[in-house]
Amino acid sequence: MLNAAHIWPISAEVRSGRLYLGGCDTVALADAYGTPLYLLDEATVRGAMRAYQTAFGSTGLQVRIHYASKALLNLALAQIVAQEGLGLDVVSGTELLVARRAGLPMAHVHMHGNAKSDAEMERALTWGVGSLVVDNLDELARLAQLSAGRSQPQGVLLRLAPEIEAATHAHIATGGSGSKFGLPLAALPAAVQQLLATPSLRLDGLHAHIGSQLFALDELCATLEVLVQAAAQVQRDYKLTMRELSPGGGLGVPYTATQPLPDLTEYAARLAQTLRSACAAHGLPLPRLTLEPGRSIVARAGVALYRVVARKVQHGQVQYLHIDGGMADNLRPALYGANYSALLANQASAPPGPPVAVAGRYCEAGDVLLRDAALPPAVPGDLLAVATTGAYTLSMASNYNLTPRPALLLLGNGSAQLIQRREREEDLLARDHVLG
Ligand code: LLP
Repeated sequence: MLNAAHIWPISAEVRSGRLYLGGCDTVALADAYGTPLYLLDEATVRGAMRAYQTAFGSTGLQVRIHYASKALLNLALAQIVAQEGLGLDVVSGTELLVARRAGLPMAHVHMHGNAKSDAEMERALTWGVGSLVVDNLDELARLAQLSAGRSQPQGVLLRLAPEIEAATHAHIATGGSGSKFGLPLAALPAAVQQLLATPSLRLDGLHAHIGSQLFALDELCATLEVLVQAAAQVQRDYKLTMRELSPGGGLGVPYTATQPLPDLTEYAARLAQTLRSACAAHGLPLPRLTLEPGRSIVARAGVALYRVVARKVQHGQVQYLHIDGGMADNLRPALYGANYSALLANQASAPPGPPVAVAGRYCEAGDVLLRDAALPPAVPGDLLAVATTGAYTLSMASNYNLTPRPALLLLGNGSAQLIQRREREEDLLARDHVLG
């Protein structure tokens, strides 16, 4: 019924020409909650979390899956992470606050970031996160000061820059030699020496993350090999065993019909094989493996609904559909040239007409959400559903043109739960002070 079902949530279906998700009529939801509206299919999110646990569980290794919360975070999702037994990666004090309020065990939280503030590190230390992932030597020096005198040493991982250029958009490739992230490999001895001289810190392991929306398993395996080599160097030179290696997240997801779904079982098997053979070659015991998927946990579960507001017609052809959202709720097409797929939720079985561009409502020529959408001829009032919008949309949303950010509903078993309300005008004005 649904074209390219693999890019839509697993519960997606068409009933009487309407898109249903989690057993809910999306047209009715748009009428009830307004648009733009973000939907998250609970079965797809939980399914993705379980698929990671199962795939890596079957490797026989000690593995921890940490959801990378920058992809999408709110209290309800953090609760789901806790219920499913995953850990969480955070990159800010406020993401850490959400983890705490959701009741996630702090031992299963890692704090990342290349420019953590003292206040963020204090919070991580006080609340007892499992690991702080140290990005650079300046941060390490500050962390040493902040942690001084603690009775229990704080666990840390060192983030290394593995000098691997991932095949993805330049903005989201993070492992190359020119990247802003991580310690150059040559700085590893200095970092280890600094750590050995700091009794309030304990070096647990090494981390690298080479980028996002990756499909080449070779690059991800090569990253893990670099980490094992570095662990062998630390073992040899400092007699210190790295108990944990974290080759980051980054697995890609299909956004369009022609992109395939990556095979999680193959990903897990390839990483496990790489770890086993590299550790054997260096005579190292097997460390715990930590994975940090973000996009591949939430992207597919998300669908964004927009109302078609108007059309631009030129030479008798519809050139643009104007919708009531765009780059403020989904910056990805403007920032990375990202492609999406869409359908009309109220005419989900109608055949497509000529390709049309879908323009956002924001005052920028670059605010075009879809360039060549294969949609049935649409008129104002129709409802556009954009697939695969669970990751890096709401978490990167802005209030450009002073528009409130959309609501988010969690869908399952025929019911919808509001897990993040729509922003109100008063929320937007709340920080302003009138002239004295
Ligand atoms: N671990 C670290 C250290 C990361 O920096 C990231 C993502 C992840 C894990 C999760 O990567 P994922 O599995 O989601 O690919 N805004 C961009 C993506 C930025 C990714 C940032 N780091 C986008 O919309 O494509």
